[in-house]
Amino acid sequence: MRIIKKEILAQTQDVTIKRFEILSPLIARKVRPGQFVVLMVCEEGERIPLTIVDKNSDIGTITLIFQEVGLTTKLLGKMEVGDSLYALAGPLGHATEIKNFGNLILVGGGVGIAEIYPVAKALKEAGNHTTTILGARNNDLLILEQELKVFCDELYITTDDGSCGRKGFVTDILQEVLSYSLSAIRYSLIYAVGPIPMMRRVCEVASDFKVKTIVSLNPLMVDATGMCGCCRVTVAGKTKFACVDGPEFDGTQVNWDELTKRNSVYLDKEKHICNLKISSV
Ligand code: NAD
Ligand code: FES
Repeated sequence: MRIIKKEILAQTQDVTIKRFEILSPLIARKVRPGQFVVLMVCEEGERIPLTIVDKNSDIGTITLIFQEVGLTTKLLGKMEVGDSLYALAGPLGHATEIKNFGNLILVGGGVGIAEIYPVAKALKEAGNHTTTILGARNNDLLILEQELKVFCDELYITTDDGSCGRKGFVTDILQEVLSYSLSAIRYSLIYAVGPIPMMRRVCEVASDFKVKTIVSLNPLMVDATGMCGCCRVTVAGKTKFACVDGPEFDGTQVNWDELTKRNSVYLDKEKHICNLKISSV
C-alpha cells in the first residue's frame, strides 16, 4: 500500500489530476480491466472507489489516477512517495467483457479518460478495431492522449474551448462517426466513461443508431461490497448495486435523473468539510 511513484498529470487553477503507482502485489496479480479499488487515506477517513488504470504484476504495482475534488482526494494528493495508504481493498466489481466485438467506439470525458485506458488496451489486444473519442474542457486537462494512441485505430480529440482537437463535446464527434458508419462500418459496441451528462448524452445519440452502449458508473459508495446500499442505481427499472452488480451497465437502461440526484446529495457538506479540514492539514 506504499506509494512508489507520484505524478501530476494535469493542473490548472481549479483542477489537479494526479497519477500514483502503489505497491499492492496481490491486487496487481488479480485485477482485470474495469475493476476498481476502495481506499482509505487515514483511519478516520471515508472510503473512496478508484478505477485501477494499469498494473505491473512483475513489480506488484497498480496505477490510480484521480482528480482532486473532495476532501479525500485532496488528502490523497498530499501523500508523498514512501507514504502508505491506511487501507486498500480490491480488485472490486465485475471486469469488462473483453472479446472481439469487431468495430467499437470508446468515449472518454475528462478524468473518465483514465478509465478508458485499461479497457481500450485489452479490447485492442483482443483484436477489435477501436475508434476512440476523448474530450476535455481544454488542452491542459486532456490526459493520456499519447498512451491511448497506441491502442486506437482512430483517435478523435475534442475540447470545450477548441484549444486542442475539435471545439465541442465528444458527442458531436460520436454523432458524426455513427452517421458515417450507416453507409460504411457497423459498430457493435460503444463504451463510455466520464461525467454523468456526457454518458447520458452518449446513450441518447447511440440509441438513435441502435448501438449497444456500456457505461461505467460512479455512484457514491461506502463499503463497496454490496452491504450498505449506498451505490444503488436503477437499471431497466430494477435496483442494482454498482459495487457488486456493476460498475458497468447498459447505459440506455440507466435512470440518469436518479443517479444525478443521488450523486449530488452531499455536495454542500463536502465543500464545507473540505474547506475546514484542508486548511488544517
Ligand atoms: P468535464 O466536465 O471536464 O467533461 C469532460 C468532457 O465530457 C467534456 O469535455 C465533454 O466532451 C464531455 N461532456 C461534458 N458534459 C457533456 C454533455 N452535457 N454532453 C456531452 N458531452 C459532455 O469532466 P470532468 O470534470 O473530468 O468530470 C468530472 C465528473 O466526472 C465528476 O463528477 C466525476 O465524479 C465524474 N467521473 C465519472 C467517472 C465514471 O466512472 N463514470 C469517472 C471519472 C469521473
Ligand atoms: Fe455499499 Fe455498494 S457501496 S452496497
